[in-house]
Amino acid sequence: MSSACLKIAALAGDGIGPEVMREALRVLRAIERRFGLQFQVTEAPVGWAGIDAAGKALPDATLQLCRESDAILFGSVGLPDRDPTIPKEERPERAALLRIRKEFGLFANLRPVRLPKILAYACPLRPERQGEGLDVLVVRELTGGLYFGQPKKTEEVIEAREGAAQPRRFHRAIDTMVYTTPEIERIARVAFQAARLRRKKVTSIDKANVLENGILWREVVTRMGQEFPDVTLEHMFVDNAAMQLMLKPTQFDVMLCENLFGDILSDEAAALAGSLGMLPSASLGSTTGAQTFGFYEPAGGTAPDIAGKDLANPIAQILSVALMLRYSFQLEEAAVAIETAVSHAIGQGLRTGDIFNPADPTALKVGTQAMGEAIAGAI
Ligand code: IPM
Ligand code: MG
Repeated sequence: MSSACLKIAALAGDGIGPEVMREALRVLRAIERRFGLQFQVTEAPVGWAGIDAAGKALPDATLQLCRESDAILFGSVGLPDRDPTIPKEERPERAALLRIRKEFGLFANLRPVRLPKILAYACPLRPERQGEGLDVLVVRELTGGLYFGQPKKTEEVIEAREGAAQPRRFHRAIDTMVYTTPEIERIARVAFQAARLRRKKVTSIDKANVLENGILWREVVTRMGQEFPDVTLEHMFVDNAAMQLMLKPTQFDVMLCENLFGDILSDEAAALAGSLGMLPSASLGSTTGAQTFGFYEPAGGTAPDIAGKDLANPIAQILSVALMLRYSFQLEEAAVAIETAVSHAIGQGLRTGDIFNPADPTALKVGTQAMGEAIAGAI
């Protein structure tokens, strides 16, 4: 595909967002030079940066830019310290991140978790539990379930009590878990197709012993599985899956999860890979023609405690660029070039603080920018 027409919206957001985005764009520029490509990158504010610049977490101009782009490269949003200053509906997580997911129908969230052998020390599990290194793909449904189901509200309850002069007043918070057959089918299809390109195993996570949603989920995924006879399908309750990730993570290839379970299990899996700072993610919508509109972001948050100090690990953001090249632009060779350059920098001993091992005499502690420059240089 010619890249001349490819438009990327780069929304750095808050906290460490801008500094890791800077390194990701540095790497993208190196890719352009190496492969003779040219992308049109436009930066725009989002999150608290959007509120400060234009009064909203997702300013109209930023949303418009996203609509006109072929892919969104996102940093991270949210600064909990500032939350009390605005209503919950206007906070960046809901007003920007969840809004974009819904607006663009980004129902499939792919979170590849890899622990390279060389970073084995950063994994909290004993070496014998790590096998030949971890390689799990969490496929998380992203636009349904408890995140979006209606009703969703907090209401006041006034309860008359027999013999009491005053009624009892309290609050009741309601979130609703809703999934339809088509929603489950389309995310299951993504998981099965992904498994075909990997070790051909899908573990579908549910709570079918308690939840109506879990029963439907299991039924639909089982039926979908018949269309993929070459892929092994197993079902696992979510509580057991959380435990199995700690006990024997190498049993997993693709983990197929509904929205909230995927949110939780992907963080747990990320911890096994040494650091959230290493984890990219792709959120995809439906494919139109050759192109899949996608949203690419690190799985970690804004990390306000280390923001602006050149301490953040830019690798998750940089690997998110690789996912963008792969899934939205079908530029597999360029995607691999980024992943190889990251391995190269790590292989050379470069470490940001989150993956630094003081016991390793060959490790060199570097900052955000130096890591970005090394990776760009290796391209
Ligand atoms: C994630 C994050 C978000 C989520 C938050 C920031 C709303 O934790 O992408 O995993 O819960 O989906
Ligand atoms: Mg999360």
